Amino acid sequence: MPAIFFLRNKFVSVYKYSLHQLVKTSLADHGLDITGTDNLFYSRFVANISTIHNIFCQLYGQHPANGEMFLQVIENIIAAYKQREGGLKRADLEKQEEGYWFLSNQIAGMSLYVDRFCGKLADMPAKLGYLQNLGINLLHLMPVFESPAGESDGGYAVSSYRQVDARFGDLDDLLALRQTMHAQQMYLMVDIVLNHTSRKHEWAEKARQGDAKYQGYFYMYDNRQIPDMFEAAMPEIFPETAPGNFTYIHECGKWVMTVFHNYQWDLNYTNPAVFADMLENIFFYANLGIDVLRIDAPAFIWKEIGTTCQNLPNAHAILQLIKQCVQVATPGMALLGEAIVAPKEVMKYFGTGLAAAEECDFAYNATQMALQWDMLATGDTRVMLASQPELLKKPFGTTWITYTRCHDDIGLGYEDGMITQTGYQPYAHRKFLQDYYSGRNGSPAMGALFSVNPKTQDARISGSLASLCGLERALIDNSEADIDTSIKKILLMQAHSFFIGGVPMLFYGDEAGYTNDYSYLADPGKSYDNRWMHRPIIHWQKNSKVEEPGTVEQRIFSGTRHLLQLRKMLSPVADHKNITWLTPHNIHVAGFMRYQGGQRLFMLFNFSNRPAYLTWYVFKENGEAPTQLRDHYSGNLFTVGEDYEYLVLEPYTFFIMQPL
Ligand code: GLC
Repeated sequence: MPAIFFLRNKFVSVYKYSLHQLVKTSLADHGLDITGTDNLFYSRFVANISTIHNIFCQLYGQHPANGEMFLQVIENIIAAYKQREGGLKRADLEKQEEGYWFLSNQIAGMSLYVDRFCGKLADMPAKLGYLQNLGINLLHLMPVFESPAGESDGGYAVSSYRQVDARFGDLDDLLALRQTMHAQQMYLMVDIVLNHTSRKHEWAEKARQGDAKYQGYFYMYDNRQIPDMFEAAMPEIFPETAPGNFTYIHECGKWVMTVFHNYQWDLNYTNPAVFADMLENIFFYANLGIDVLRIDAPAFIWKEIGTTCQNLPNAHAILQLIKQCVQVATPGMALLGEAIVAPKEVMKYFGTGLAAAEECDFAYNATQMALQWDMLATGDTRVMLASQPELLKKPFGTTWITYTRCHDDIGLGYEDGMITQTGYQPYAHRKFLQDYYSGRNGSPAMGALFSVNPKTQDARISGSLASLCGLERALIDNSEADIDTSIKKILLMQAHSFFIGGVPMLFYGDEAGYTNDYSYLADPGKSYDNRWMHRPIIHWQKNSKVEEPGTVEQRIFSGTRHLLQLRKMLSPVADHKNITWLTPHNIHVAGFMRYQGGQRLFMLFNFSNRPAYLTWYVFKENGEAPTQLRDHYSGNLFTVGEDYEYLVLEPYTFFIMQPL
């Protein structure tokens, strides 16, 4: 191997003859035709190899096995390309020709648990019609790979990255579903749980039995010395149910790092063999035909003593390395980084500096999601607005997953500064939100606090969209007026997240108004985790009511469907960094403009429980003043008034307005 390989490089990629030759000879060894069929792959490889090498050196330049492991990475890339079916290679090309296919306003997703939604993977194809009727064409399957019952964390404790759990069917069923979906122009998203494995994963089992190689796959220590050094600066993720970040393993007499639950062992990415093996797993998913790979918990994948072990520079380096490798071998698969962290930190998952838009293609807009809940409780948009300067830094070519609810809790993790800017006190403000959503002080919301930290009183919120919007309480009280209000709130929340930019990801059940499901309390494998209250079991008899005029289910479903239809019809909704926040003339109203070509859309949302009055001047501040506006949601026409006159938004209503 030429010596140049492991010289430390600046993080700037330049042509390197030796690397070029390495690619060329490796491809020839594999019988690839670099001047013919495989020319495009070869070109991509040559274009990226220098960056791949640089990042690899940054991470593993000092590791004794770096040379061997670098070659392993090269081999993984080639193998992935060779195994990729012709159809997927064609789709790669089409997506590349489209350019940033995932920015489109034509994509809308739903996240669901296969077993709770319909039973097995083989039952899914029959349900695609229901999803398509709603307007969904991207399906996020919650983890379906093997995960031990009773200690699965909803599938996020993976014991095999390659075997589908028998509860859901088998790999052939997954493949068949993907094929059916692609034939119907639908996209598929699955998770890779990169940060940790289940303690029942083969690597963990071997480590437990004393195999030194696999002990090196985890953060394992003989005594508390290093764990204590780590603990000094590491926060706790599940302080109530899984305090601390290390677990003692009796069989081998060692402590292993377990940041999440004690049955989830953190993988040690300072070991290049872990990276190489997980890259193989990533390619395995890519070659199943996955369109979007959700990288679970990427903020945690690199650990260093003396830090919180979250959002570290090398966590980004790993993601960038993955992105570069995927771009070479399986470029049609987009990456979603599930980094649920403060706004300043989340932006970095899109890549920074020379790596801007070269890391994750998607990130969850968890900040905006939480801020929507903030606005709904307070009726005040100012904390949300204070956060926008940070969120608008997202680079072109990347996008958000926008959402109101998902399988996880709602964290109020936006920065204190955003709260203080508006004159509120952070502790009291968060306490108000926690009380509001856990139904205290006469609030109509019926959620619960999740992971209360006894030391800091920090807490997150569980509860379904409907229950948090007051539907559960309204149904108990049998109050038509309150049912009406809660439906308005649900649609307001959905509308805001569908139009703000990014791919909306609905959570199953929310389209049909599912309230909290308390059956988890009877299951010892779930009762300790109240996130299960908002992970419903679907009753298709209830869902059939979505077609029965006047039912709660139908009112929510048809409103949601209408919004998704509008989204697909209105091209400025595609995420081209084309959003301008309107001057907040009324603090109860969130308002933004989306624009593209000559088209403008004005989106206005009243988060308060009273009518909001908005000066018509708001429409005259950005470009030519319109004289007439159509609200696409209601179909109503409005004549733009004088500046001293007002547009009135009824409580919890919204407008999607376009100048005529
Ligand atoms: C992610 C998942 C969450 C899980 C955690 C640990 O945040 O969304 O459900 O508990 O990772 O894998």
